[in-house]
Amino acid sequence: MAGKFEPKTPVQLDPPKNDGLTMADVSKCDGVRNKCMYVGIKGTVFDVTRNVNAYGVGKGYHVFVGKDASRALGKSSLKPEDTDPSLSWDWSVLNDKERKVLDDWYTFFEKRYNVVGHIVDLPRKS
Ligand code: HEM
Repeated sequence: MAGKFEPKTPVQLDPPKNDGLTMADVSKCDGVRNKCMYVGIKGTVFDVTRNVNAYGVGKGYHVFVGKDASRALGKSSLKPEDTDPSLSWDWSVLNDKERKVLDDWYTFFEKRYNVVGHIVDLPRKS
């Protein structure tokens, strides 16, 4: 897997934080209520604030912000039924292929964005 999903321009990352965050904490970093923008993948929370072009208000990937977006990322979906925060965290519905896609997104984010913590109150994790 070496070299997979490497950013074109090197990204200087901070050591990952292991803070416990609630889903409510993550929802506050939605770029609207606060400037910060967080995206969760399988409970790990990435800070995407610097990428306003992709995740800012009105941008295509804003639908992933302020929530754990595992289901939507795994299904390669931007649809409300996959991005609604009441279920977007629930990746138990993903098939094997979609789980691989999700894991690839995790790797992609891990190489670009700082980990700010882990969601402690996901209703389920697998
Ligand atoms: C017509 C369909 C689509 C087009 C043309 C498109 C295009 C792109 C482009 C050009 C990038 C930037 C790649 C780079 O920075 O190297 C990107 C990134 C991305 N796309 Fe799409 N995309 C499409 C659909 C989707 C869908 C359905 C999803 C749902 C999961 C998605 C999720 C993402 C994500 C998460 C990123 C990474 C943004 C970042 O953090 O840099 N895309 N897309």
